Amino acid sequence: MTQDELKAMVGRAALAYVQPGALVGVGSGSTVAFFIDALAAVPVAGAVSSSEASSARLRALGIRVLDAGEVERLPVYIDGADEIDAQGCMIKGGGAALTREKIVADLAERFVCIADASKRVAVLGRFPLPVEVIAMAAPQLVRRFAALGGLAALRPGVLTDNGHPILDVRGLEITDPLALETEINQWPGVVTVGIFARRRAQTCLLGTAAGVETLVF
Ligand code: 5RP
Repeated sequence: MTQDELKAMVGRAALAYVQPGALVGVGSGSTVAFFIDALAAVPVAGAVSSSEASSARLRALGIRVLDAGEVERLPVYIDGADEIDAQGCMIKGGGAALTREKIVADLAERFVCIADASKRVAVLGRFPLPVEVIAMAAPQLVRRFAALGGLAALRPGVLTDNGHPILDVRGLEITDPLALETEINQWPGVVTVGIFARRRAQTCLLGTAAGVETLVF
């Protein structure tokens, strides 16, 4: 199977976690795009989305999009990941939507990660860690990452939906995701670090050649 076929398979499988008539939290990225297309067949009350791109795709399929501020809780949040470890901790932000992803995920009772099998790792960090930052702080944040052994660089030509640049940090071996997430989030100028450990996935639907593998954390 191609990577896209694996993504489409887990996108469809995620419908099992969506309650007809209820709201659903929707993430961002190419795997989520397959989920959104499948969601069009389910009579949901509406969706809270983590990116302008996902909101546009939802609306184009006739699905009502609500702002995060309009809801207090969501039964489920469905999103992809760039890496996921054996505890359900993730690196996210390859699509630059990490801040809104963390906000919408925080509203949800359950985080269901959908990913092809290439995203499963023993230790997070091979995928460059995305960090949304305030532009004026970027040079000093590059130096802070260097002190941790990381090589940070601005993602060329990219601003997030919130209007901020992204630093991509290479060379980190993230053996304690919660501690590193907590540490980086304290640094002045960091908007959001793309480690999802405090709000990790409870379930992961992993697309493999043998079918959908369900991981429960
Ligand atoms: C966007 C994300 C995505 O979930 C992540 O990049 C995975 O994307 P894809 O499904 O395209 O591989 O975090 O900010």
